[in-house]
Amino acid sequence: MYLTKEEERFCDGEHGWANQTCMKILVRLGELFNAAKLIPIESAHVSGVSYKTLGDAPIEFLETLADADGKVRIRATLNPQSFDSEYLGKRLPDHIREKQLNILRQFRKMGFTQSLTCTPYYLEKPKQDAHLAWAESSAVVYANSVLGAWTNREGGPSALAAAIIGKTPDYGVHKAENRKPNILVDMETPLQNEAEFGALGIYLGKILGDKIPIIQGLKDASEEKLKQLGAALATTGMVNMFHHDIRPERERMEKISVEAEDIKQTIESLSTIPETKPDLVFVGCPHCSLDEIKQIAQLTDGKKVQAGTEFWVCTSRHVKKRAGDYVKQIESSGGNVLTDMCTIVSWTETLGIKTLMTNSAKTAYYAPTLNKTETLFAPLKQCLKEVLEG
Ligand code: F3S
Repeated sequence: MYLTKEEERFCDGEHGWANQTCMKILVRLGELFNAAKLIPIESAHVSGVSYKTLGDAPIEFLETLADADGKVRIRATLNPQSFDSEYLGKRLPDHIREKQLNILRQFRKMGFTQSLTCTPYYLEKPKQDAHLAWAESSAVVYANSVLGAWTNREGGPSALAAAIIGKTPDYGVHKAENRKPNILVDMETPLQNEAEFGALGIYLGKILGDKIPIIQGLKDASEEKLKQLGAALATTGMVNMFHHDIRPERERMEKISVEAEDIKQTIESLSTIPETKPDLVFVGCPHCSLDEIKQIAQLTDGKKVQAGTEFWVCTSRHVKKRAGDYVKQIESSGGNVLTDMCTIVSWTETLGIKTLMTNSAKTAYYAPTLNKTETLFAPLKQCLKEVLEG
């Protein structure tokens, strides 16, 4: 891979150990994927922030990097951690809280914005055609497909290295020729709600592998529904982007169709039990937009969360702040608008949550294994019907 004289100096350690280590991570990645060079990026987004998913081993590396004066050179944001300090933090043992706070301290020392959200694009939208190094798969698909930015699906370490160097190897979907669709998906059935968009993502992710689809038949879908589709696509597949409702450039292209039965069966497969009174109803995977919070507030108006069930709505601090009155409404109904975390990366077992209901296909897919919960998957309105009375 071609390196500028300055990049070579980074590799040789002239700018210190932290910069050298990060440059070497990027060079190794670039060589692995035959990148010709490094390119500058507008922002980096790092995953692996939750102590629950990160574990103990990588903490030492973070501490060493921060102590060696590793500093971000560009806008750099963080994925959710394992609890919010106001509500769940108080219900967790001290050693968990301390470990998590130490992880955040190391990132802060390196200059990361404490965004703690998987929807960094609600804080600041990347520019059209901007190159990024993002590590949260749902945000990667959203950035490429909805926002028109360019990012590979980074791992936690490569996004961290990219944040510190301000560059990423030029391969994958950073190159225009690798963003072209190569399979046509015809929707034989209209999708009604966000859960069906999520189910489509789970279904397609399994059969597309890393092929980039044009999905025909999603016209007028809201950005939130496309967010559900993208998050689910990245859950079961290696897809980094999709196109929808555009004319294919090539006449001959592999073609598949999706029928109502495919969506119905996928929805059924995402519930592990037919019905139950859930311990927790969770909305906000990926983190809610302002419009989603508004919709939830309207649906909870005049109603109360039933005793014995928790209702979590997860979002970023940034969106929560802007959603003032809607948040008050949801909380006056007995719900909790939580920031900085989500169910999947939090300590639900420690909190005694055994059954979960969600409108997120990604959460429904992961929760039975990562949270060891029985899971019910249903659209928002049905989730709220389950949790609210009055
Ligand atoms: Fe975000 Fe957690 Fe879902 S990080 S995409 S809310 S699993």
